[in-house]
Amino acid sequence: MPDTPTTPALLDAFHALLGPAGVLTGADMAPHLTDWRGLYRGRALAVLRPASTEQVAELVRLCAAAGVAMVPQGGNTSMVAGATPDESGGQVVISTARLNRIRDIDPIDMTMVCEAGVILKHAQDAAREAGCLFPLSLGAEGSCTLGGVLSTNAGGNTTVRYGNARELMLGLEAVLPDGSVWHGLRRLRKDNTGYALRHLLVGAEGTLGIITAAALRLFPLPREEAVALCAVADEEAALALFRRFRARDEGVVRAFEYISGAAMDLVLDHVPGAVLPLAARAGHYVLVDLASSRPGAGLRGLLESVLEEALAEGEVIDAALAESEAQRAAIWRLREEQPEGQRRAGASVKNDVSVPLSRVPEMIRRCRAALTALIPGSRPVPFGHIGDGNIHMNLAQPPDMDPAAFLARSEEIMACVNAVVRDLGGSFSAEHGIGRIKTGMMEDWRGGAELAAMRAIKRALDPLGLMNPGKVLP
Ligand code: FAD
Ligand code: MLT
Ligand code: ZN
Repeated sequence: MPDTPTTPALLDAFHALLGPAGVLTGADMAPHLTDWRGLYRGRALAVLRPASTEQVAELVRLCAAAGVAMVPQGGNTSMVAGATPDESGGQVVISTARLNRIRDIDPIDMTMVCEAGVILKHAQDAAREAGCLFPLSLGAEGSCTLGGVLSTNAGGNTTVRYGNARELMLGLEAVLPDGSVWHGLRRLRKDNTGYALRHLLVGAEGTLGIITAAALRLFPLPREEAVALCAVADEEAALALFRRFRARDEGVVRAFEYISGAAMDLVLDHVPGAVLPLAARAGHYVLVDLASSRPGAGLRGLLESVLEEALAEGEVIDAALAESEAQRAAIWRLREEQPEGQRRAGASVKNDVSVPLSRVPEMIRRCRAALTALIPGSRPVPFGHIGDGNIHMNLAQPPDMDPAAFLARSEEIMACVNAVVRDLGGSFSAEHGIGRIKTGMMEDWRGGAELAAMRAIKRALDPLGLMNPGKVLP
């Protein structure tokens, strides 16, 4: 059993190890104790800010000896409250904010080694300065960290072309729950040497250890880009358009995103400066983003010719092609502000689901009907990564309903969507993970041998159950 020192002695030990900048207590902890969606308000003994792998390891050893649970936290943008401590006040948050060095960029190997607290946007910028592309891209990229995106196996807008975080990772350095450091920062494309521990930690949401650094894959920078926002006839037309581009040149589709008319309306109505570059609002939109590292790839011509075909078939109703970097950014902003538009419009319930690509239109339509029958006046606001079969089948509250009363029905709303998704062979969490919000679904969806194996792995690596308890596993 761990030998539990008194809290003041433990806090003294944290201070001695990290210095004053490394330990937050009292009101200074506030931003670290709530989740991005504002659904939970936790408490903590302290927020600890180690500045090196050695300090993380020593902290983990101190906590393990004291029996204190640890909650790893990067940018705290989790959509499932994965980085929020519980209400007991007995946990510590281990923030990676000061693990923020880019250790190495190698344009020949096309690899980059970064510490876990490096902000995703900073990693993208550093890669670009070295003449390379780090392609992971999502709305939270200005504040989420590499440790966070790896721990949630984040997807985002470019998964359709480059894969999700897992596919961009070659090796990891991590502190395991007993405080030992695993030096796995190998930068190899091929390395079959036993169990792939690195892949266990990716997507583990901080329940198996703390990632302190990662070796990541880089790609050639695009030399040509072409972006358009299209109004499309319906969900089938959105999918048909994706298939047209894929058939013509799969390799150039960097992003293919769907936005329902209702979701776009929330952004246009609530986010200052959001402007639709089309003649009229529509029921469905698609954002097409093409990119190629090949000079003279002719992407503009490809975009125009595929859209002309789709216009002739009645799939596309109208389209705006970006003529400048400013227009490209303005189109992307309409997509990136989707979570913010929904946040400003009142309470909403998120359903981050995936189904086989061919079933996406049916999924959206069935969920929309089921949700409005469940809560009359509520507004289904689906949008997301249709090219990956991953739609955020979110539901905004009826305008005249009390937000708390609406949120009190979250479980029912998620169950309503999940019933359709299960029927279509999908997943209840495509990219946001399980965190705290979805642990209750694990038994039903992953029970039996799969959950038993996960529990056995957790017990083997974290026998004291101190790494982010209450997350992922029910
Ligand atoms: P946090 O929120 O701090 O933590 C997330 C989880 O990882 C927690 O369980 C935490 O304990 C754990 N963790 C964090 N750092 C470490 C570490 N170093 N070692 C071990 N565990 C760690 N996600 C997508 O997949 N696709 C999207 O398109 C997308 N868009 C988003 C848009 C917005 C506006 C927002 C707010 C979020 C979005 N997300 C998206 C959610 C997504 O999960 C996060 O943005 C990102 O992956 C989390 O990074 P973070 O640094 O904020 O991690
Ligand atoms: C996004 O893709 O913008 C986020 O993952 C989705 C959300 O807010 O539901
Ligand atoms: Zn998403």
